[in-house]
Amino acid sequence: MQDDISEVRVFAPATLANLGCGYDVLGMAIHGPGDEIVIRKASEKRHVTISQITGDNGKLSLDATKNTATIAAQAVLDQLDLGGGFELDIHKKMPFGSGLGSSAASAVGGAFAMNELLGAPLSRHELLHAAMQGEAAASKAWHADNVAPGLLGGICLVRDNPSLDVVNIPPPENLWITVLYHPEIEILTSEARERVPSVVETHHATAQAGHLASLISGLYESDFDLIKRSVVDHIAEPGRRELIPHFGDYEKRSLEAGAIAFGISGSGPSLFAFCHGEIAANKVAQAFQYEPIDTYVSKVNTQGVIRIE
Ligand code: HSE
Repeated sequence: MQDDISEVRVFAPATLANLGCGYDVLGMAIHGPGDEIVIRKASEKRHVTISQITGDNGKLSLDATKNTATIAAQAVLDQLDLGGGFELDIHKKMPFGSGLGSSAASAVGGAFAMNELLGAPLSRHELLHAAMQGEAAASKAWHADNVAPGLLGGICLVRDNPSLDVVNIPPPENLWITVLYHPEIEILTSEARERVPSVVETHHATAQAGHLASLISGLYESDFDLIKRSVVDHIAEPGRRELIPHFGDYEKRSLEAGAIAFGISGSGPSLFAFCHGEIAANKVAQAFQYEPIDTYVSKVNTQGVIRIE
């Protein structure tokens, strides 16, 4: 541990998982919402603990064995075969149960903050496993499509979830995203996953493979027309869209306002619209100004989690 550092503060961004055609394997980080986490050494303690949580409306437990941030921070210590007492302040600056990767933001923030306090012995890629241990405790499944972009930034393709083989995909310069967020509705990822069929018919699997591959190609080539044709979900959306009020109406209005593609963010209920340029993204947001929803307009966040003052 660096002797001169007594405290580290980080910001871990919200993330959109699946991106319409990459269930459990594709995600991106955005600007705006996220978690701020502060970590400090607590010599009188023997474990990683939580000193306070703000912004959660009292919904999260202070039990460190149940919080994704502290589970991930502890996993970093375990990975390095270290011990000691540490305490975390967790400031939620994003909604949870919203499909914006709240549990992953905490997990990423916890792992990254611990690593920074220790003098950054691990690379961001090497922190993936620890962050995933936090995320898996919340989601009850092992998928890195939120954690990976939260840690690495940008758009991430998870080639293989078990081994956490993740690659960054370059975002087109002019790709903007409008997020539609329902403040009144929460959907637990673990429950939404029950809406996804355990068996997929071959014709759906081949169609999905085609769409996922063509989205990746569209992103590499900045081919917005190909991106538009590729955001199609045969796997998760059919069973989940009925959980989300006004899904069909919001999709139609987003596309009419200029979005090129539309889908569910992670397990929902947040929705995303891909847009070609900031002006188009703002027009989509304006189309919903009188609805009981909030919007975020963002470019792809290529930094991921960062240290802040
Ligand atoms: N890929 C996950 C799901 C993301 O759709 O269940 C959850 O945020």
